[in-house]
Amino acid sequence: MQRRKFLKNSGLTAAGMVSAPLLGSCKNDAKSDVDGKIIVPNKPIVVCTWDFKNASAKAWEVLNTGGSALDAVEQGVRIEEADVNNETVGKGGRPDRDGNVTLDACIMDKDSNCGAVVYLQNIAHPISVARKVMEETPHIILAGKGAEQFAYAQGFEKEDLLTESTKAQYQEWLKTSKYETPINIENHDTIGMLAIDEKGDLAGACTTSGMAYKMAGRVGDSPIIGAGLFIDNEVGGATATGVGEEVVRTVGSFLIVELMRQGKSPQEACEEGVKRIMKKNEGRKDFQIGFLAINKRGQTGAYCVHPGFSYRRYDQRGHENITSDSFLKT
Ligand code: GLY
Repeated sequence: MQRRKFLKNSGLTAAGMVSAPLLGSCKNDAKSDVDGKIIVPNKPIVVCTWDFKNASAKAWEVLNTGGSALDAVEQGVRIEEADVNNETVGKGGRPDRDGNVTLDACIMDKDSNCGAVVYLQNIAHPISVARKVMEETPHIILAGKGAEQFAYAQGFEKEDLLTESTKAQYQEWLKTSKYETPINIENHDTIGMLAIDEKGDLAGACTTSGMAYKMAGRVGDSPIIGAGLFIDNEVGGATATGVGEEVVRTVGSFLIVELMRQGKSPQEACEEGVKRIMKKNEGRKDFQIGFLAINKRGQTGAYCVHPGFSYRRYDQRGHENITSDSFLKT
């Protein structure tokens, strides 16, 4: 905490970049020359969408003990998948309009290996099934019954994902069956997580139960590589939360990584990603999207449509919930 205060007072914490002398005691070693300053990549570091502090703390625990970015993001998002009080991810996620909880997730590593599951039922940890798809099959995406059968074959247990709370809410919803997507925290559907480990390698994970009371079979952006998540170990990573249909239309996370490749900062890239979506939706205000990005140097950025989005960052400076700027100001 003392160290964090000192860094804050020194005015050198902006944009995730810290000058080398101040980080003399941390484990960063590579140096680069940017804008005339000697800087070190800010690693290890983890960021995740929304104020998921337990998930980011778990990922940090893995990174800070020398674990890989891939293990960190898997272990991190599993915290939210297991939390039945989180009604938008994993066990305890709200069901579709037929009363079935269906989960989507994907994971991507430093070598562009990736795995995903869509429309997965009865399994509490879709992110770990996605990792098995990546590591144990020649495929990238498994869907529905096939994904479920694969999960059982890999030793995952069958679980009822509907809780007393989500069952009661669903019974209430049935009275009107109104299909709407509340804009913000009430529907903070997705945890997307990006990490850089001590070696400087990146990985990302994204997992969700999707929109509450969605049409049966509906899949959003979260398990789609390039839309809900994209990692390029040379450049950085990006992930998304919000109304998946709009993210898929612009292949949002891939776009943001490509913009960073062309020289934009994570913040500038996220802003451009949201602006592209808003250009295609002129006049529309009824949806939220939040993008989160990190570059290879450990600089981070985020941007959203409506005020209310935030992201968690955990690095050598400490653990913070950072409010994102937004395209619409009210
Ligand atoms: N972003 C999650 C979804 O649209 O399902």
